[in-house]
Amino acid sequence: MTKNNQKMVKRFSKPVIIAHWLNAGAFFLLYLTGLPMYTELFDWVYVVFGGPAGARLVHRIGAVLFILPVVYILLADPKSFFYWIKQILTWKSHDFQFFLQFPKEFFGGHAKVPKQDFYNAGEKLNSLLAIITTIMLMGSGFIMWFPAYFSQSMIMWAYPLHNIGLGLSIAVVVGHIYLSVGHPNSRVSLRGMTKGDIPETYAKDHHGRWYDDLKQDGSPKKKQA
Ligand code: HEM
Repeated sequence: MTKNNQKMVKRFSKPVIIAHWLNAGAFFLLYLTGLPMYTELFDWVYVVFGGPAGARLVHRIGAVLFILPVVYILLADPKSFFYWIKQILTWKSHDFQFFLQFPKEFFGGHAKVPKQDFYNAGEKLNSLLAIITTIMLMGSGFIMWFPAYFSQSMIMWAYPLHNIGLGLSIAVVVGHIYLSVGHPNSRVSLRGMTKGDIPETYAKDHHGRWYDDLKQDGSPKKKQA
């Protein structure tokens, strides 16, 4: 594959791309419909959804859509899903060294970031935090949705847990979006999550260990997620 004379390598499969954007869309829908429940500043959102009842209904639809990608990817491309899980649970010295160099790279300096896996250490951390905050939000949300099935103390804990999960997930997502669309060093990655491929030079510079495996196998498709 070539684009503007650049050699490209396959990065994400179609099901991974669909699952990612379904998850992202559901996140923003949940965020939007949840905002007026926190502050009057966003009361206009109720108008958009036809009143508080409408916004609450769409919030519940968003919650179902938020977990749907997991079911979908398990059916459509389980290999990529389990590869992701295995990667984010595997931490070696090059992952820890990443964080020592990352601030320099983030602020435009020339950092000596050690070769990274298919998912670099920042993406592994992003993934783990996304999973943790999703469990917090889903678990507490489920209790709030069906309070009749839970004890008074569980319901009491669900509300602050939902707020903490929300605050954490927004911080994580803001950083993730900035690195994917704003930061000059990493915004090339967006093509991987839209068209499914990235320039070979980017793979080599940002995911060196994965790139070396690709070269060794001689078949990029074998290692794609
Ligand atoms: C406008 C919004 C978003 C953009 C532009 C975006 C962009 C991207 C890109 C480009 C990648 C692939 C990075 C790579 O090559 O490895 C990615 C991966 C990922 N995204 Fe998103 N994303 C968005 C929203 C979200 C949201 C809302 C979530 C979760 C709630 C999320 C969770 C993830 C996870 C867990 C990964 C895999 C790990 C990683 O690469 O960090 N994304 N995203």
